[in-house]
Formats: sequence, C-alpha cells, structure tokens
Amino acid sequence: MIRVENVSKKYGPLLAVDNISFHVERGGVVGFLGPNGAGKSTTMKILTCFQPATSGSASVAGFDVFKQSLEARRRTGYLPENTPLYPEMRGDEFLHFRGKLRGMQRPQRLEAIKRVTDRCWLGDFISRPIGHLSKGMRQRVGLADAMLHDPDVLVLDEPTIGLDPNQIRETRSLIKELGERHTVLLSSHILHEVEQTCDRTIIIAAGKIIASGSTDELQKQFSAHARVIAEIKGPADEMAAGVKALPGVQDVEVTASDGWVRLAVSPKPDHDVREDLFKLATSKGWSLREIRLEGATLEDFFVKVTAEQQRSHPL
Ligand SMILES: Nc1ncnc2c1ncn2[C@@H]1O[C@H](COP(=O)(O)OP(=O)(O)OP(=O)(O)O)[C@@H](O)[C@H]1O
Ligand SMILES: [Mg+2]
Repeated sequence: MIRVENVSKKYGPLLAVDNISFHVERGGVVGFLGPNGAGKSTTMKILTCFQPATSGSASVAGFDVFKQSLEARRRTGYLPENTPLYPEMRGDEFLHFRGKLRGMQRPQRLEAIKRVTDRCWLGDFISRPIGHLSKGMRQRVGLADAMLHDPDVLVLDEPTIGLDPNQIRETRSLIKELGERHTVLLSSHILHEVEQTCDRTIIIAAGKIIASGSTDELQKQFSAHARVIAEIKGPADEMAAGVKALPGVQDVEVTASDGWVRLAVSPKPDHDVREDLFKLATSKGWSLREIRLEGATLEDFFVKVTAEQQRSHPL
C-alpha cells in the first residue's frame, strides 16, 4: 500500500532523510518512531506529495507520488504536524470547504461529513467554531478532514502531541479502530504509544531506518544489545579472566571500587550468561549483590541506538 524505495531528502547541505526504503502492506497501523529531527515529518511530506524527494521513489496505493501525484493524493488522508485549521470557521463549514476542494458535490459532502463526524466522535462539536474547541477536539476535526474522502491510506504526523491523557487514550483507540479499515502510518517519538497502537514499527534516527518489525521482532533484535550487569566482591583480575572464559561471554568491562567489582558483560548472540555468572561467583566463594539485564526493554534499545545515530550524524 505504501512503498518507499531509496528515498533521500536534502535541505541545502542537510541530509534530512538518508536513502530509506520500506513497504507497508494493506490494513493495520504502522508506527514511524524516532526522536526529534529524525526525518519523520520530512518522509511523510514526501509520501503525501507536499514536497518532492531529492532522490528515490515512493508510491501510495500503487500510484507514484511524483508522477501520479493527483491519483496518489486522492487515496491519501494527511494529518500534518500541528493540525492546521481555520479557527474562525465552524467544523462542518471547514469540512464542506475541504470537500469542495476535493471536488465533492454537496450530497456527497453531507454524507461524508456525517460519516467522519460519527467516526471521530465529534457529535455536536462539529457545529462550533474551531477556535472555541479544545486541542483534542481540534485534532479530531483534523482527523475528520483527513478521512473525508475515505482514503485507503492515512498519514498521521504525531496525532496525540499536546493532548491530555484522556484525549490521548481516546485518540489512540480511534486510530486503532481506523486501522481496521485503512492503512495508517503514524509518527511518534513516544515509544509507549507505538507499542500500544501499532502492529508494526519502523524506527528512524538521523534520517536512517535503524530497525523495523513487530514488537516481538524488535524485542528479538534489541535483546542482542542487552548487557548483564553484576556486582561481585572478589579479586578484580581473577574475576575478569574467569568471566571472559565463560562460553557465552563476548566481552566484559570491569570497574572496581570498595572491594566490589562491577561487571558489564556483553553476551554472545542468543546467550544468557546470568546463570553461569552466578555459578562462577558461588564456586569461588565471592559474594554477589546484584545481577540484572541492562538494555532489555524496547525503550533502552531505542535510547541507545538513536543516541548512537545522533552522535555519528548530528543534525
Ligand atoms: N523546510 C526545511 N528546511 C530546512 N531544514 C528542514 C526543513 N524541514 C525539516 N528540516 C530539518 O530536517 C531534519 C528532519 O526534520 P523533520 O521535521 O523531518 O524531523 P521529525 O522526525 O519530524 O522531528 P520532530 O519529532 O521534531 O517533528 C531536521 O534537522 C530539521 O531541522
Ligand atoms: Mg515532525
């Protein structure tokens, strides 16, 4: 439904998107996760024909966003960052205006406005001036606008930003519901949000895709980055040598203070060295006061890999 092939975007000398490729199949919600300045909005603007890529190609619903942009736009609904709306218009007035721009006739518009008002739980708020609505309600008017022409694909750029916790919860469940009928690409820098809302996640940092997959697949990828942290009392040199010799250990960093030795053990892929570490300490008669996995959550992984990317490609 969405195909992105080797897309790059330069703003003058700045490479905001660096040769990214991904495919999104029909249906479901795909999260586009990355820190500030990662290139999420830039990619979304390219996909929604708001700006051209510097190189590469992209298509939505089978239509090239550069060469068949009108066709691609007919099949895409876009909620940009900061939901641009006209505050002096009423919600229904705004949607009529937007429907006219899309070439919809009045009966078609009336039917569509009723449909999106229901789907976005707008109720009577739709007939109030947009400027009088809360941020959450305005966000829903923006979503209603994106859905007015019943597009196959919805591109939503940080749809929950600035909302209160109740509105966030409601918006997330609305997006999940939308994923049943549409293909939704949702950007966010909130990990928890994509874990909750999305079937699949693409992680982007400094313009590059650094991981993608379902939450389970990502869990597997990042568990390779997890380290075992242990604090053991004993002779540091002997301990370092003993730990290094354990079969599942790739590398170990050792810091000693007050007689306690802190070990940061990087295991070989698919090895859990905690039991061996425990056995080693007990066989030597060393006291052990801590043993834990570090970097075992998706959040740890996200923080680590995005920080590495930002350091090597400061934007
Ligand atoms: N029109 C522009 N002209 C110049 N630089 C731009 C422009 N738009 C974005 N950038 C730069 O491109 C990089 C990527 O920006 P982008 O808005 O795509 O990031 P983002 O992932 O959406 O970040 P955020 O989470 O803050 O919205 C940033 O360094 C940004 O400053
Ligand atoms: Mg953005």
